[in-house]
Amino acid sequence: MAQQLDPSNPLLTPYKRGNFNLSHRVVLAPLTRQRSYNNVPQPHAILYYSQRAPQGGFLITEATGASDTAQGYPDTPGIWTKEQVEAWKPIVDAVHAKGATFFCQIWHVGRASSSVYQPNGQAPVSSTDKPLTPTIRANGVDVADFTQPRRLRTDEIPQIVNDFKLAARNAIEAGFDGIEIHGAHGYLLEQFMKDKVNDRTDEYGGSLENRCRFLLGIVEAVANEIGAERVGIRLSPFGEHGECVDSNPKELALYMVNALNKYSVLYCHMVEPRIKNNVEQVESSHSLVPMRKAFKGTFIVSGGYIRQEGINAIAENRADLIAYGRWFLANPDLLKRFALDAPLNKYNRETFYTSDPVIGYTDYPFLE
Ligand SMILES: Cc1cc2nc3c(=O)[nH]c(=O)nc-3n(C[C@H](O)[C@H](O)[C@H](O)COP(=O)(O)O)c2cc1C
Repeated sequence: MAQQLDPSNPLLTPYKRGNFNLSHRVVLAPLTRQRSYNNVPQPHAILYYSQRAPQGGFLITEATGASDTAQGYPDTPGIWTKEQVEAWKPIVDAVHAKGATFFCQIWHVGRASSSVYQPNGQAPVSSTDKPLTPTIRANGVDVADFTQPRRLRTDEIPQIVNDFKLAARNAIEAGFDGIEIHGAHGYLLEQFMKDKVNDRTDEYGGSLENRCRFLLGIVEAVANEIGAERVGIRLSPFGEHGECVDSNPKELALYMVNALNKYSVLYCHMVEPRIKNNVEQVESSHSLVPMRKAFKGTFIVSGGYIRQEGINAIAENRADLIAYGRWFLANPDLLKRFALDAPLNKYNRETFYTSDPVIGYTDYPFLE
């Protein structure tokens, strides 16, 4: 049952629609933490996620690999093997025991990878064979060295659609309430969607319709497998992460939400235009309001939100739910702090992606 927290604070009002029966509007954004050794979720994630699971809340997992070719970072979890499914189960159970709804974010990084993370040391796959420029990792120290990708053949694409379908089925078997397809941040699906990267001449390249075909094929396959009411999708049309840029991001965004309406998916989770590179913030003249208006399901926004901005967005009906990333990472009791307007713990970038099972992971303090 959704319980009313504080009707005078829009962030703390209940939200009920489709499969959502939430007590408030504060969502845990997907956050890669690189503590799933050998791509298997670990017992320390039980504490991490249950710390961030308020009653009546909605949580999205860190990006989770759809297959053995999906990885591009050390120790990110997967959901393509039996062992991984079994390892997720106690984590999902712990979140459910706290009374929260839990979706698994499923990704494939495409060319944002190196042969080190690929089976048999093969090249990563993409829409293109154009390589990514080596970049400094988000921790500010390590250099991400990307291997030149191999362009997927047209006949290989249905196999990846099938990988997402199986991963979605596995997520339901692990107990998740649904899945979020990761169509954001320069990973495989964006490498197809955005015209500055996609240089194909087959039915997956060229027109907007062709560039979105892969992602929409996944949406359709996954919705048929587990039900559209258990499917969400994350998009960052205005982002430039992984050199994934589109010449007309607004047109792309509107095309996608209108197409998603046809599948009746539960939600669309869109990253604010002010976020260019995963977390880096810039001024932008764009707004998500046209997409919010066009989309018929639940609209989640994220990127650079703090308490008051979330309140404003809900009060002005610019979104149904707000996903918080870094502030939730550093404040396991974020909801309580928002309710009390209490000060927040600062986040420590240096431990975002380290492998320690406690430090920077489950040791952020709660309010007294
Ligand atoms: C440590 C870290 C890991 C992240 N991992 C993911 C991820 O796995 N999937 C994803 O879609 N976004 C990921 N992001 C982006 C966040 O979900 C979010 O969009 C971003 O932090 C901006 O929101 P914020 O200002 O509330 O932090 C990550 C961000 C951070 C800081």
